[in-house]
Amino acid sequence: MSDWKVRRAPALQTELTVPGDKSISHRAVILASMSNGPCVVRGFLPSEDCLCTVAAMRALGIKIETPEESTLIVHGNKRVFSAPTKDIDCGNSGTTMRLLAGLLAGQPFKSRLVGDASLSKRPMKRVIEPLTQMGATIRAEGANHRPPLVVEGGPLKPLHYFSPVPSAQVKSAVLLAGMFASGKTTVTEPVRSRDHTERMLEYFLVRPQKDELSVSIHGGLTPESRDFQVPGDISSAAFWLVAAAAQPNSHLLVENVGLNPTRTGILGVLLRMGAHIHEAIDNEQAEPLGTISLRGARLRATNIGGKEIPNVIDELPIIAVAGALAHGRTIISDAGELRVKETDRLAAIATNLRAMGAQVAETEDGLEITGGTPLHGARLSSFGDHRIAMAFAIAGLFAEGETIIQDTECVATSYPGFEKQLEKILKATAEPQTPVISSLPSAS
Ligand code: S3P
Repeated sequence: MSDWKVRRAPALQTELTVPGDKSISHRAVILASMSNGPCVVRGFLPSEDCLCTVAAMRALGIKIETPEESTLIVHGNKRVFSAPTKDIDCGNSGTTMRLLAGLLAGQPFKSRLVGDASLSKRPMKRVIEPLTQMGATIRAEGANHRPPLVVEGGPLKPLHYFSPVPSAQVKSAVLLAGMFASGKTTVTEPVRSRDHTERMLEYFLVRPQKDELSVSIHGGLTPESRDFQVPGDISSAAFWLVAAAAQPNSHLLVENVGLNPTRTGILGVLLRMGAHIHEAIDNEQAEPLGTISLRGARLRATNIGGKEIPNVIDELPIIAVAGALAHGRTIISDAGELRVKETDRLAAIATNLRAMGAQVAETEDGLEITGGTPLHGARLSSFGDHRIAMAFAIAGLFAEGETIIQDTECVATSYPGFEKQLEKILKATAEPQTPVISSLPSAS
């Protein structure tokens, strides 16, 4: 078990890049595996979650070479997969389990998907329901539709699915199954979620039809093998963006980062809070990517809710930290989904912010944070959740005294180099007299 020790830091003045986008990395591996030949995927995120997807595709008979950590050569096998000889381990990754459930629903064999303790508590009914309607047989072995999942795939019927939750994982599971169905499958969402699957299908020349809230796909098409560049993950950049936004003298430049409009909600939130932000798209292949330039300010509170939530769903822990540093009351609402992430993130955020001296009220689907009270260092749990660990490492940079984040191994699921990057940024930033972050063995 490794813990981090963090202290107050001076204003950030730096430029950086972040590792590949997690959501896009999963999808690139899956679609390349279905394609009709070799695809080179560059900028792939070699995190535990994405490596689970790579291992799963290999277990289904796909040859994947890794000439470099972040470069994959995926040998697509024209939508033909072989039956796995053992359980497919999805680790901590909800995206792996839900997207694979969709893919496996259309295969003429039986597979069993398992996950770690956290994933085994996450709801799977949201994918079981539509995939069952399409004709797959899926049995959840855990109580209340929880994993492990046993998927018996086969010929599928097309479906028009009205998803009750705005979830890119559900949408993607149904679309992947739809690729093996006879006819046209449509997913309609209540609010638009991230659109990486649609964009990638388009890029691989499987032409989905899209409008504001719906995506349709025709079954039977094979993706055309093509090379793919994964942009940097804006959800990882979000930690540095908030670290810089909340300090009036900071200036941060993030390059080569994904700027997909279904993911850039964090920029709008920080703008409303008073940060000065400029974004520029440098390139648009399947996904727009470019540069974010940010200057910090004295932040003010804002309200975040409604349609904005899916766009900032993964950034809410660090947005809550920004709220605690801002003047006034920040209200996060309509974010009940946070209760079924890697941990109950609303409870985890409230517990940790309170331990640092912030005023927080937890509601059923959100948080009310009265910012401006100076934070003090505390011993905090990561709750086994990567984004909680990183969000509170950033909070520690603003606290009086020492903050200890316990059990930070979970960060490897999305951002393996976070700790090193934090050390590096802080070294490059003004003259810290004492090391600002250090690892120490956990007490437990
Ligand atoms: C993801 C979708 C989101 C997000 C998760 C990744 C994806 O989950 O929170 O980190 O890659 O599709 P939901 O689909 O549950 O909203």
